[in-house]
Amino acid sequence: MIDQNAQKRAAAFAAADLVPDGATIGLGTGSTFAFVIARLGERLRQGLSVRGVPTSRTTAELAQQAGIPLVDLDAVDRLDLAIDGADEVDPHKNLIKGGGGAHLRERLVASAAAEMVVVVDESKLVKVLGAVFPLPVEVSPLGWTHTARRIAATGCEPRRREQHGKPWQTDNGNYVLDCRYPGIPDPAALQRLLDGIVGVVDHGLFVGMAGRVVVADAAGRVRVLP
Ligand code: A5P
Repeated sequence: MIDQNAQKRAAAFAAADLVPDGATIGLGTGSTFAFVIARLGERLRQGLSVRGVPTSRTTAELAQQAGIPLVDLDAVDRLDLAIDGADEVDPHKNLIKGGGGAHLRERLVASAAAEMVVVVDESKLVKVLGAVFPLPVEVSPLGWTHTARRIAATGCEPRRREQHGKPWQTDNGNYVLDCRYPGIPDPAALQRLLDGIVGVVDHGLFVGMAGRVVVADAAGRVRVLP
């Protein structure tokens, strides 16, 4: 049996090995994705040619340390692949992301890619999104209490993310509200509601965006959900 960290590594290495030579790829964010960077670094040393669009400052730093050439999203027409972790994956491959607060850039990068490959350990597979993990919603700091009330009306309890007693800010200078729902049985309907709220910059619901999902389990098996 292998622990969760080893599962993340196993899934991440398998996902990194899907990257074809010469590809331009989206580089996700999070502890699972850090293993993807490590494996890409190894492949680069073995001769792989690849360039990446980072989804966070943290990922940009890690990618640079691994020797992955970086490129701006606006400098490329499209990406061959985006690889990223997730906080929850439902049976329809809808996702909650944004535990690391990078979901705006993650959505931008995934939307520009021919395919979004998701890489997770099996603990991330859930029947219904949101029953365990609160949905991160990025909001403008200006008027955030008003925005929070409108978001609460969609059926959740929003809580502003804080660090050391201060509001935590995204790489974009916004706040994150972690929104606890009893469950999100219809992610597409909630997405429509959130997209219609003034002050919401973006949210961590990824509906119909995931392509292949690479999952590792406690037995060390890696499977790819098509
Ligand atoms: C970052 O904002 C997130 O979307 C991460 O991709 C997600 O939280 C998964 O992170 P871990 O791989 O650290 O669990």
